[in-house]
This record gives sequence, C-alpha cells and structure tokens, in this order.
Amino acid sequence: MRVLVTGGAGYIGAHACKALLKAGHEVVSLDNCYRGHAAAMDRLMPLAAGRLSFIKADICDEPMMQRVLRERSPDAVMHFAALAYVGESVDQPLLYYRNNVQGMMTLLEACRLAKTPRFVFSSSCATYGQPPSDMIPVPEHCPQAPMSPYGYTKLVGERLLADFAEAQARAGVTFGYTCLRYFNVCGSDREGIIGEDHTPETHLIPVVIQAALGRRSSVAIFGTDYPTPDGTCIRDYVHVEDLADAHIAAMNAIKDKTASAYNLGIGKGYSVRQIIEVVRKVSGRDFKVVEEPRRAGDPPAVFADPTKINRELGWRARVTDLSEIIASAYRWMEKHPKGYAS
Ligand code: UFG
Repeated sequence: MRVLVTGGAGYIGAHACKALLKAGHEVVSLDNCYRGHAAAMDRLMPLAAGRLSFIKADICDEPMMQRVLRERSPDAVMHFAALAYVGESVDQPLLYYRNNVQGMMTLLEACRLAKTPRFVFSSSCATYGQPPSDMIPVPEHCPQAPMSPYGYTKLVGERLLADFAEAQARAGVTFGYTCLRYFNVCGSDREGIIGEDHTPETHLIPVVIQAALGRRSSVAIFGTDYPTPDGTCIRDYVHVEDLADAHIAAMNAIKDKTASAYNLGIGKGYSVRQIIEVVRKVSGRDFKVVEEPRRAGDPPAVFADPTKINRELGWRARVTDLSEIIASAYRWMEKHPKGYAS
C-alpha cells in the first residue's frame, strides 16, 4: 500500500515509517519538523529502495494538504502529527487545539476530497483520564474523561473520525478507521538506526537514562505516597517497535465502515521505582534519586487490558521484558548524546 504518515519524522512516526518500509509498503512521510527530525528520514532512506519520500509541511496548511493527498492518493493515512506534552497543553491549550484538532480537520478535509479509504489515528490512554479502580487494567469501554487539554484533543480526534466516517458512508464513499490508544511508549529501534530524541525530554525512561549517563545531576520521583505497593505511580510501558507493528496490523484490517478503537499496551504495570532499578541494572551505573511531591494530573496506576487487539488483530507486544525495553533506549542514548544531531 501507499501510506501517508503524518508526523513521520517524529519519534513514533519514524518507527512506523521503518516498520512500513520493512513490510514492503511505500511511505510518504510528512512532518513540519517542529519536534520531528528530518535526519530520521535520512537514516531510513537506505532501507527504502526508493519507497520513501519526505515532505516538509504542516498539517494545518490546507492547500498543501489537499495537494499532497490529491497527488499522492494514498491507500491509507497514519496520523501521528500532534503535540503531545500533557503539561504544555495545560499552559497552552489553544496551541494544542489548533495543532491537534484544527490540523486533523484540515487533514480529514483533504482525505474527503481525495477519497482516502483508510485512516489510523494516534490516540492516547490520556483520553481515559483517571480510570475507576475497578477498570484497571483498562478496557476500551472504560469511560473516556480526559484530565488535560492534550487528552481532550485526542478525544475530539476520535469523535471527529466517527462523525466523518458516518458522513462518508452516507455519501457512499468507502472509508474505515481505527483509533489506537497508546499507553507509555518507550524504547528505540533495536537495530539502532532511529531512536527517541525529544526536546525538552520529560518522559520517565529517557530522563532516568540521562541521569545514568551523567547528563543530568539527578532524577526526581514525582510522588512517593501513592496507593501503590511502593508508593510510586504505575504505568504500562510499551515498546515503540511493537507499537509500530500494531499500526500495520490495524491498517491491514481496515475495511469499508470499520470503526474500531484498541488499547496499545503490554497489559502489565511497572512503578517509577522499578524503572529506576532496571535502569541501574542495565547501565551498571548509579545516580542520585530525589523524592519530590506529586506532579499535578498524574493518575496513580494505569495499565492496559490489551485483550481486544489480541483477539481481533492477533497483535500482542513482543518486547515485554523491561530490561530489554530499557536496554534499547539506553543503547541509542549512549551512542547519540545529542540525539539525531550527534
Ligand atoms: N515521572 C517521575 N519523574 C520524572 C518523569 C516522570 O517520577 O522525571 C513519573 C511521572 O510522575 C509518572 C511516570 O513517571 O508517574 C511516567 O511519566 P511520563 O511523563 O513518562 O509519562 P506519563 O504517564 O505522564 O505520560 C504518558 C505519555 C503521554 C500520555 C500519558 C497518558 O507520555 O503522552 O502517558 O496518561 F498522554
């Protein structure tokens, strides 16, 4: 298939581009490079044998998006392009709604004009907010009640797709979509070609690795008084390559009128202290850990019930050993002290 990957130069988008190329697809990657890295595309070109093209463009640019969809006429769109910092979204909600919601509307209008038949959407477990305790592990039918503007933009994206799909069906146009609700995505390409490079970096695993590598003086644990076995928050850490594979499985399964949503996680939670211990083990280095108050908006424990995607698409995370997940991130960060600029 010819697949348009928006946000293709970002962390998850680039891993999806690589997985698509490996599976024999043609990839049109589009990114405004605000937080994505054109260098990730350069690194994938040798694998692509002419099947990868890169367009530097913004999803909010309506004439550009309509031209790209018309000229490239993709069989599927994988839509990753989004801003994704929960805290930043609280401070700058309009930035998030403009990029994530308006950008998605612009993209969908271009899809409408080009009659794009398949759409895979990067959603988030942030759409669930703090699930009730009797819904952890979290199933897809858990009520969606986001706790941040970021989470709302993803929930609006899901709603937009549902309404858009219904209109396409009424107009007699073939269309199907799948929303993938990610839990905590982490790790890096185990072949070491691409990896995680965020500025600023706020995610737990890379932050702890930076401390192990001496690139920051300490790691803060945000809250040690949660109602969890060791008092720190529990999350479901899913490897980015598994996540990328799930997108391909979802895309392949989309038929006319498909309207699905799946949780993407390994189905098991690890605490902040457990992550720190595994980074110590994998790196063989010690570093300073400081205990700080809770970070606003952090739910105590969230992990996925991935039964539905396993049953319906046959997908299951393959990299479930926390040491292996962390080792993949560690190798990339050790070799690339300045990320793609290294
Ligand atoms: N944490 C620390 N110290 C740090 C960084 C994080 O203790 O320096 C803790 C957080 O408080 C949290 C856990 O580690 O308990 C994981 O934090 P991350 O920032 O790595 O990830 P989040 O769970 O906050 O966010 C992730 C994704 C978001 C998504 C969200 C859904 O990064 O995009 O899950 O809840 F929206």
